[in-house]
Amino acid sequence: MLTVSDLTVAFGPTVAVRGVSLTAEAGTVTGILGANGAGKTTTLLGILGHVPRRGGRITFDGRDVTALDTRALVRAGIALCPENRRLFPSMSIEDNLLLGAYGQPRATRQARLARTYERFGWLHDRRAEAAGRLSGGQQQTVAIARALMSDPRLVLLDEPSSGLSPVAVEEVGEVLRGIARDGTAMVLVEQNVRLVERLCSTAYVLAHGQVTASGPVDELIGGDAVSDAYLGTGDRPAAGPQPR
Ligand SMILES: Nc1ncnc2c1ncn2[C@@H]1O[C@H](COP(=O)(O)OP(=O)(O)OP(=O)(O)O)[C@@H](O)[C@H]1O
Ligand SMILES: [Mg+2]
Repeated sequence: MLTVSDLTVAFGPTVAVRGVSLTAEAGTVTGILGANGAGKTTTLLGILGHVPRRGGRITFDGRDVTALDTRALVRAGIALCPENRRLFPSMSIEDNLLLGAYGQPRATRQARLARTYERFGWLHDRRAEAAGRLSGGQQQTVAIARALMSDPRLVLLDEPSSGLSPVAVEEVGEVLRGIARDGTAMVLVEQNVRLVERLCSTAYVLAHGQVTASGPVDELIGGDAVSDAYLGTGDRPAAGPQPR
């Protein structure tokens, strides 16, 4: 469904993502694991054309979308649930949700809201409340629901478990599992290995802006690349042919 080939993103002299290639299949959840600063967020933003790419090619549903801007990619069916949720805390839950369907005709926005409230009944009950009053897990659910408001076929999620209590991580995990069950494909960036284990079939490990390992999650987790990424034993740029 999504193919990223040789994506490179640099901020001036800092090359944050160096030749990353990955694929995400329809109807599956693909994980991206990696330590702080590994280049996970930059990879997602690079896919969306949100940061200047130095190289790389993106295809979506067999179509080359490399030249499309972020807005066109959203229209094509890719949504982002950004790092740190990025809700507007003083705005109502409903107004936060509506931002996910920004620019759509009123009838479309209302239909998508209705569908969101069908899925998350409690959001309907609390729709007029300020988003900032919700718990962390609930706010993350609003951020995910807002991403779904663009009616995507692929959702890119940037560390949805970040800063949440273990109970809230479970809650968010269940929400994501429900979305996966409906057949919406996802790319899940996470430092929470357990969440990736639970939701993903395939995952990639990023370190120093490069893919250091990839494969079926059950083979990957417990492997050297994952422990290197998290324990810092791999504190050097990867060199030579990488295990796949
Ligand atoms: N706008 C920017 N300008 C300059 N450098 C940046 C910018 N954004 C990211 N970087 C650098 O690129 C590298 C990768 O950052 P990125 O945010 O992609 O990592 P990450 O894997 O998402 O980390 P985290 O787990 O902390 O979110 C880091 O060295 C970071 O400092
Ligand atoms: Mg990040």
